[in-house]
Amino acid sequence: MQFTSNSLEHHWMPFTANKAFKKEPRIIVEGQGLYFTDHHGNKIIDGSSALFCCPLGHGRREIAEAVYHQLLENDYVAPFGCATPGTFELAEKVARITPDSINHIFFVNSGSESIDTALKMVMAYHRANGEAQRTRFVSRERAYHGVNIGGHESEWHGEK
Ligand SMILES: Cc1ncc(COP(=O)(O)O)c(C=O)c1O
Repeated sequence: MQFTSNSLEHHWMPFTANKAFKKEPRIIVEGQGLYFTDHHGNKIIDGSSALFCCPLGHGRREIAEAVYHQLLENDYVAPFGCATPGTFELAEKVARITPDSINHIFFVNSGSESIDTALKMVMAYHRANGEAQRTRFVSRERAYHGVNIGGHESEWHGEK
């Protein structure tokens, strides 16, 4: 497959110098085990497990098959006042392997969403305790906690 500046135009990539990338793209076309292969055929070690998202390696057949079977059985349920059996099973497993004080599990889709949720939860907690004025968060300068509104130092406009 050929990748030209034109064919790459419509995907606006996050945290990427888009113009430079599209001039000289590096597209990962395959992931197997510890390795990626780019569109030039170069084999690359994925030393960060795709930013910690694939710690068991790429292209694992048993993971692909589990996802395939789940999609056939029940692909999605809107989570408002509704749930699937697997979510309770997983929450129970996570609660069992984490320290005793961690026993309520809230699922999200990304690190960014988890940080946003944590910020909202602590604000709701203080509000429920009659301390709604407690909205100050402490973070390191140039800290990175995702592409949410509060987890990225330079994008936070609330009180610090
Ligand atoms: C400490 C920390 N928080 C949050 C995030 C954001 O996670 P995600 O890319 O899944 O939104 C990252 C991602 O690298 C991270 O390292």
